[in-house]
Amino acid sequence: MSLVTSRLEILKEEDKKDLDVARISVDEESDAKRKLYIESYGCQMNFADSEIVASILRENGFATTSKIEEAELILLNTCAIRENAEQKVRNRLQHLVPMKKKRQQVKIGVLGCMAERLKTKFLEEEKIVDMVVGPDAYRDLPNLINEVEDGQKAVNVFLSREETYADITPIRLDSNGVTAFISIMRGCDNMCSFCVVPYTRGRERSRDPFSIVKEATELYEQGYREVTLLGQNVDSYKWKGVNGELSTTNFANLLEMVALINPDLRVRFSTSHPKDITDDVLYTMKKYDNICKYIHLPAQSGSSRILELMNRTYDREWYMGKIDRIREILGEDCGISQDMITGFCTETEEDHQDTLSLMDYVKYDYGYMFAYSERPNTPAAKKLTDDIPNEIKNRRLTEVINKQQSHSLSRNQMAIGKVHKILVEGFSKRSTEHLCGRNDQNKMVVFPKENFQKGDYVNVLVTECTAATLIGKAVAEVLV
Ligand code: SAH
Ligand code: SF4
Ligand code: F3S
Repeated sequence: MSLVTSRLEILKEEDKKDLDVARISVDEESDAKRKLYIESYGCQMNFADSEIVASILRENGFATTSKIEEAELILLNTCAIRENAEQKVRNRLQHLVPMKKKRQQVKIGVLGCMAERLKTKFLEEEKIVDMVVGPDAYRDLPNLINEVEDGQKAVNVFLSREETYADITPIRLDSNGVTAFISIMRGCDNMCSFCVVPYTRGRERSRDPFSIVKEATELYEQGYREVTLLGQNVDSYKWKGVNGELSTTNFANLLEMVALINPDLRVRFSTSHPKDITDDVLYTMKKYDNICKYIHLPAQSGSSRILELMNRTYDREWYMGKIDRIREILGEDCGISQDMITGFCTETEEDHQDTLSLMDYVKYDYGYMFAYSERPNTPAAKKLTDDIPNEIKNRRLTEVINKQQSHSLSRNQMAIGKVHKILVEGFSKRSTEHLCGRNDQNKMVVFPKENFQKGDYVNVLVTECTAATLIGKAVAEVLV
């Protein structure tokens, strides 16, 4: 298993989509007296929510800190996607027990998906917790904090059909000042049988497109050069304006609106559900150079039988047809990545071989791969049996990861000898003599720094690669 984890880490190394990794708050410059420490687990949407929470609490006299020992309020923004994501949070809470004993006045709140899933049970199971707040209740935080300061426990886990926090400007917590994430919708209506998200995040709702464009424009004015539009299923984005049907904005329209802000502002998006991504979206991507040619298109399995049990609403052939369409419209170079689950209920060796052969068909650039973890009260937990032993799930996972490694490497090798336009994000992980940034296809590129800076677009000739990174040298700066 440690091999599996470490190889998974390699694949994920350069990408912040890490699903189980904690991110901590930064030292905010502010006169605020009250210190808040937030640790975030799970997906980008959770990280984006922590930035909304920091913004709401700034209005109430709190500034974020990276030093847990100086905080009077500690918040863990939690994830429930797999058992180990929840275990991580429970372990973290156990670690906080001695601190809480020493500093009784410290208040501890749990936010996010695990808070929503467990509700008041969280208070019973983890005595150290003072406050439980679901993802749609963050505006209520100031009241809830008052309650805990009065010595009570506080809970708000109401899910909303409208809340999008559209009017709240997030405080960018862990920012490189160049790339930023913008939530364009919340919740999910899809009901994939394995997934807890519809229960923890509630019904799908889209955010006012003008508030999205405003946020992206402000980011551009502050020097940001790339925005990633976030949602569980961005292709079902839909905003009905005040004039009803005639003014409906779909995802292709929204992409175009954001792309038009400035040709110098790159636009990315995640996640696309294969059933919803339209030709319209693909043609919009093609039309604008600043919309990055990269699509995260989770398959989850290559077996039509398993896809049906997962309630993904497409089958293997339909998925392959989508891939063909992407390649037809956007060309072979378009980056494509996957999520896969191994060992879902009743998965046979034949189903597993279907997953491997689908991967051979697509040759994904990246992948995020997981062993199935049954989540309480999901349709799969209620109707199916989690009958694949862990060792088989993990053996299949290793095979899927190995295959992805070899495809990532061969896709990266295709980039060698070509010039790529990179947006510089900062120093490379290993040396301050090198910079790193992504190309259009979301591949991380490392090159000698010369006189380039964060936020520059640089043309880099790629000369070598690993499965995770391209390596090259600047050939000329692109003036845009
Ligand atoms: N909305 C996105 C996925 C969000 S969750 C989509 O539809 O693609 C991110 C990934 O976690 C999923 O794509 C899936 O691969 C994985 N995942 C979700 N539930 C899981 C479970 N119960 N066990 C293992 N992996 C799971
Ligand atoms: Fe979960 Fe499916 Fe919704 Fe993705 S689309 S969040 S996997 S229910
Ligand atoms: Fe986790 Fe919730 Fe995101 S369950 S993956 S934090 S939507």
